[in-house]
Amino acid sequence: MMNPILNNILETFNTYLNTSIPKSKMETSLEESMRYSLEAGGKRIRPLLLLATLDMLSEEGYQKGMSSALALEMIHTYSLIHDDLPAMDNDDYRRGKPTNHKVYGEWMAILAGDALLTKAFELIATQNDLKPNIQIQLIQSLAQASGHLGMVGGQTLDMQSESQQLTLSQIQTIHEHKTGALIHFAIVAAAIIAEAPPRITQLLSDFAKQLGVIFQIKDDLLDVYGDQEKLGKPVGSDILNDKSTYVTLLGKTEAEHQLNSHIQQAEDILNTLASEYDESHLNELLKLFYQRQN
Ligand code: IPE
Ligand code: IPE
Ligand code: MG
Ligand code: MG
Ligand code: MG
Repeated sequence: MMNPILNNILETFNTYLNTSIPKSKMETSLEESMRYSLEAGGKRIRPLLLLATLDMLSEEGYQKGMSSALALEMIHTYSLIHDDLPAMDNDDYRRGKPTNHKVYGEWMAILAGDALLTKAFELIATQNDLKPNIQIQLIQSLAQASGHLGMVGGQTLDMQSESQQLTLSQIQTIHEHKTGALIHFAIVAAAIIAEAPPRITQLLSDFAKQLGVIFQIKDDLLDVYGDQEKLGKPVGSDILNDKSTYVTLLGKTEAEHQLNSHIQQAEDILNTLASEYDESHLNELLKLFYQRQN
């Protein structure tokens, strides 16, 4: 359970999300397939992080972050649709439901992903209460975080290293890109919209990098030790695909040890921020990153 303010942000976001892909005049199931995955009910941890950070930084609140938050969730959702395809992780369940390709078939799942990816940029480009130079900065940052130097690059490394023995530093590079880049965008977007001072943007960026690692170590732990019912996706996928993860490389205890060390570093950054901002929502979200069971 989150506090009422975060819950309120989540509800506002979900309402906006639920109307974001209206039916088109073309008689295809494309929009249905896009909505199927988008509305399946993820944790929305990235949009929450973006909106809560913006709420902390700006006297105007979080409203101006809406298109970026939804754009981010759309790109994240597309990445999951493609991640689950037979050519990638070949998983049958996601967000507690059969994966997109299990319901709509592979070509439609690929196209739904493509359409979510491109829609993301349209959303930011058409949010008219943002200054054009802010829109451009957001589009540029999101493109970088999503593309070959960000998430897609990380996914490429992840696929390429199946059945390979990796070093910890190689795994860190994969995590930093495949998971870290989009989480980092959440925080950077808030700083861009709020026109935060460079020193604060830097602190928040360091915090986001810790969050990215925390998120993926927890994901790797849940993949082995999680409860499939709560998780809404299969347990054991990484072992089946012979992936290198924190758990396969270091074992449970050391992976947890690393997790705790990154939590400590993230908390230290929040303590520094606390002299100037009310960081309580970020503190709560940090807990969600490592205490979550799904
Ligand atoms: C899962 O992300 C994919 C990774 C980046 C590890 P989430 O755990 O945030 O998935 P949803 O959005 O809640 O379904
Ligand atoms: C996927 O990582 C990360 C992205 C989709 C960018 P994983 O393959 O570990 O995610 P899950 O465990 O299937 O959610
Ligand atoms: Mg994967
Ligand atoms: Mg996967
Ligand atoms: Mg995983």
